[in-house]
Amino acid sequence: MYELVEIDRNDLELLRIIKNSYRRYFFDKRKINKARQILWYDDKYTQSSDQTIYKIIVNGKVCGVFGVYERSENRLELFNLIVVRKNRIKGVFSKVIRDFCSDHSSKGKICFVNVLKLNPAIRWYMFVGFIVSSQNDNFLELEYKND
Ligand SMILES: CC(C)(COP(=O)(O)OP(=O)(O)OC[C@H]1O[C@@H](n2cnc3c(N)ncnc32)[C@H](O)[C@@H]1OP(=O)(O)O)[C@@H](O)C(=O)NCCC(=O)NCCS
Repeated sequence: MYELVEIDRNDLELLRIIKNSYRRYFFDKRKINKARQILWYDDKYTQSSDQTIYKIIVNGKVCGVFGVYERSENRLELFNLIVVRKNRIKGVFSKVIRDFCSDHSSKGKICFVNVLKLNPAIRWYMFVGFIVSSQNDNFLELEYKND
């Protein structure tokens, strides 16, 4: 029903636009211009083997993206979970993240995410199956729990 495909150079403009539109919810709130997005891709993303950004494709359209950092052998940090509003299909993002996290939990990996406390998506994470594992003044760390 959906496909996960790693982003490539052709996805940078989409990524830039959706990241900018939700930047108030991210740690780095600077607006990203085209040059900076390309620099990030060439100098950082493609040079590191520990992070992957996936696009979620349904019926040939990208309806969201999310990133995964391998923080250690058994800890995966999800980041930049962003819906593409115009292609959103209700319920798809939750299914993708549940499938991804359940699959990795069954292999002994912990999937977690750091979320700013002011982000309304915290309710969504709870709905998907995350629980609070730690917190500080500004953000919560949430961990996926298999039911
Ligand atoms: C978080 C996000 C990826 C969820 O995508 P989505 O397409 O809305 O997800 P789904 O359709 O699978 O799930 C929606 C359901 O989740 C539940 N939900 C609870 N709180 C929610 C919230 N704050 N936002 C969205 N859904 C929420 C609801 O049941 C909702 O269904 P409803 O519309 O019938 O009430 C999207 O809202 C987003 O891109 N947010 C902005 C970027 C962001 O803050 N990302 C997290 C960074 S850490």
